Amino acid sequence: MKVLITGGSGFIGSHIVDRLKMRNIDVRVFDMVLPSRGDVEFYKGSLLNEEDVRMSMNGIDAVFHLAAVANVDHVFKDPYYAEAINTRGTINVLEAMRRTGVKKLIYGSTIWVYSDTDASVIDENTPLHPPKHLYTATKIASEYYCQSYAQLYGLKTTVLRYGIPYGPRARGETVVALFVGKALRGEPITIAGDGLQFRKFLYVEDLAEGNVLALNSIADNKIYNLEGKEKVSIRQIVETIEKVLGSVKVQYVEGRKGDFSGKEISAKKAFQELGWEPHVSFEEGVRRYIEWYKANPPKQQERIIIEPISTLV
Ligand SMILES: NC(=O)c1ccc[n+]([C@@H]2O[C@H](COP(=O)([O-])OP(=O)(O)OC[C@H]3O[C@@H](n4cnc5c(N)ncnc54)[C@H](O)[C@@H]3O)[C@@H](O)[C@H]2O)c1
Repeated sequence: MKVLITGGSGFIGSHIVDRLKMRNIDVRVFDMVLPSRGDVEFYKGSLLNEEDVRMSMNGIDAVFHLAAVANVDHVFKDPYYAEAINTRGTINVLEAMRRTGVKKLIYGSTIWVYSDTDASVIDENTPLHPPKHLYTATKIASEYYCQSYAQLYGLKTTVLRYGIPYGPRARGETVVALFVGKALRGEPITIAGDGLQFRKFLYVEDLAEGNVLALNSIADNKIYNLEGKEKVSIRQIVETIEKVLGSVKVQYVEGRKGDFSGKEISAKKAFQELGWEPHVSFEEGVRRYIEWYKANPPKQQERIIIEPISTLV
């Protein structure tokens, strides 16, 4: 079996690459940035170029589609570009699959699709509400494209709604990465509001494992939440970092309007059907991340961009 991973040089994609290689599965990365390891095939291309995407499918049995503008602030600043990558990019992948006969797609979506629902307990059957954020709109549109291509053209598509991942190679602006960076530099960590708002963080290697399990045919044409287990408040992130590094400075500021307050999202279906559940505790994950961070100071964490991310084609 040979799989293609769009966005395989990014944070989550690179861990899926690692997991696939551990199982001796052949991997080709499609990205504009060099992969984090040298022992995988690399197809340098942009999602916006339909021909690039199609050519990259040669000899491929399954596709993980993760390439996207994943930072919601970047989406806010440049909605037109984000829409092109996140939405048109997805249809380019699906269309390339239709034309080349690749049948299986696993799409990296997000639990943000539930942000605007008012249900207190959420599973994959919870109806989605029209989203306020454009990032979420692009991810929901992509989910629908996957479902339409499955219905109309017989593709087997799996939508995975990722929880909030953290761990080695995380983008520096994500909360755990930001707090660890500040703590190691001796700068104060800023907490907006009382810090009691919780998230269920998910260690990125656990998330990667869930992706690999979705290659199983039981996942065809299904949606799964890959959500973390442990509730962790913003204050607890700081306390966990303190357990590893000793006391850190904290500054409290006024809460941000519309901050996602955290919802109960069930990952029972992924457990029952894929046998997936997270194994790495938050404390262990933070320890591993801090070790990685120390071995890879910020300069070394920068990815090698070999083509500017600029023009729409
Ligand atoms: N990180 C999170 O918190 C999170 C949570 C839920 C879902 N997701 C989703 O998971 C996926 C991966 O997220 P991530 O955190 O690894 O992001 P990332 O930014 O680390 O990785 C995205 C990758 O896509 C590549 N890419 C961007 N535009 C491209 C283009 N036009 N052509 C080819 N490659 C391109 C980038 O070079 C990068 O390597 C995204 O689809 C994101 O929406 C992320």
